[in-house]
Amino acid sequence: MNRMNTADVDTTTIAIVGYGYWGPKLLRNFTDIADCRVKYVCDKYATRLRQVTSKYPNIKIAQSFDRVVEDSEVDAIVIATPISTHSDIAKQALENGKHVFVEKPLTADSESAEELIRLSAAQRLVLMVGHTFKYSPPVLKIKDIIDSGELGHIYYISSSRVNLGLHQPDVSVIWDLAPHDFSIIFYWLNEEPVQVNAFGRACIKPDKPDVAFINLAFESGAVAEVHLSWLSPVKLRRTVIVGSKKMLTYDDTESVEKVKVFDHGVNFVEPSSFEEFQLNYRSGDILSPHLDTYEPLFAETNHFVECIREGRQPKTDGADGLRVVKALEKAEQSLMKNGNFVEDSRCRLRIA
Ligand SMILES: NC(=O)c1ccc[n+]([C@@H]2O[C@H](COP(=O)([O-])OP(=O)(O)OC[C@H]3O[C@@H](n4cnc5c(N)ncnc54)[C@H](O)[C@@H]3O)[C@@H](O)[C@H]2O)c1
Repeated sequence: MNRMNTADVDTTTIAIVGYGYWGPKLLRNFTDIADCRVKYVCDKYATRLRQVTSKYPNIKIAQSFDRVVEDSEVDAIVIATPISTHSDIAKQALENGKHVFVEKPLTADSESAEELIRLSAAQRLVLMVGHTFKYSPPVLKIKDIIDSGELGHIYYISSSRVNLGLHQPDVSVIWDLAPHDFSIIFYWLNEEPVQVNAFGRACIKPDKPDVAFINLAFESGAVAEVHLSWLSPVKLRRTVIVGSKKMLTYDDTESVEKVKVFDHGVNFVEPSSFEEFQLNYRSGDILSPHLDTYEPLFAETNHFVECIREGRQPKTDGADGLRVVKALEKAEQSLMKNGNFVEDSRCRLRIA
């Protein structure tokens, strides 16, 4: 790969576009990075921008992205706007010679993601996607455990990411929440799914599914199911991984012991007759490994600045973003294609 264009000066100057729910978290982290200066925060709405000025009086605010992207002092653009706007803003930024960080998912369709990858490669600019969990200590620890062979080969992964809200106006729950599970699972297994199907329903807003059950099958034989919902009485961020040697649970809502490795399993003894059929269930130690305690978003934002300064390809680059977008498209297509509308007094439903 060609070396990236690096920032010419010691300080990397960035602008953040989108100051809704997630933008402030990105701003807090970027302002904590040494040798990184946030010059602008840009948002369509003046009310949002007033919150920036009261907290960070030295940061300029802008309602027009054109003004920001044309400023030659700005090295990089950080995008935290709704998903449907990602590709246009990222394209304009790359065409103006800026490095780009885009929140997950990279784009709303795979063609736009491919175009961004082409543009960034041609301009030798960093293109990074905010797959935050790939910077999170429990996810990294589980990757090490899987790669070490401790779990054996992976039979299946089951994941629940449910909560009450936040309903997104422009996308289904799949595009909002599945980027997390897909990026994590593809990273752990080091492969993309060969089969994706989804089943779900739109309970509150017609045509915007807010609950989905996605099944994934991988060439290695591993299968995964991902349950997503904006309609749940409790917040669950829970994953179970079952391997041929050991099993593991990961609960991101726990403050301690987020990851537990169970020396549990089943041994199948080849029978010589039906009467001899037997399984030996093994129930051994449960171990909770030590985890680092840094904030994943700080590691992620730091990585972006380092990649710009050192001309490196990010760990969550455009290709990583595209893999996830392709799987999101398949899941959404499956959910929509086999769907029948069912209407009752509470919900107008689409079922796939
Ligand atoms: N990595 C994570 O864990 C994580 C968590 C939440 C959200 N996100 C991602 O962050 C992004 C933003 O999500 P959010 O929940 O903050 O959305 P939001 O709707 O709360 O905020 C988006 C902001 O962008 C502004 N905006 C929209 N179009 C704009 C434009 N053309 N120019 C300037 N500003 C514009 C809006 O006014 C709004 O303030 C999404 O891609 C989402 O998937 C990531």
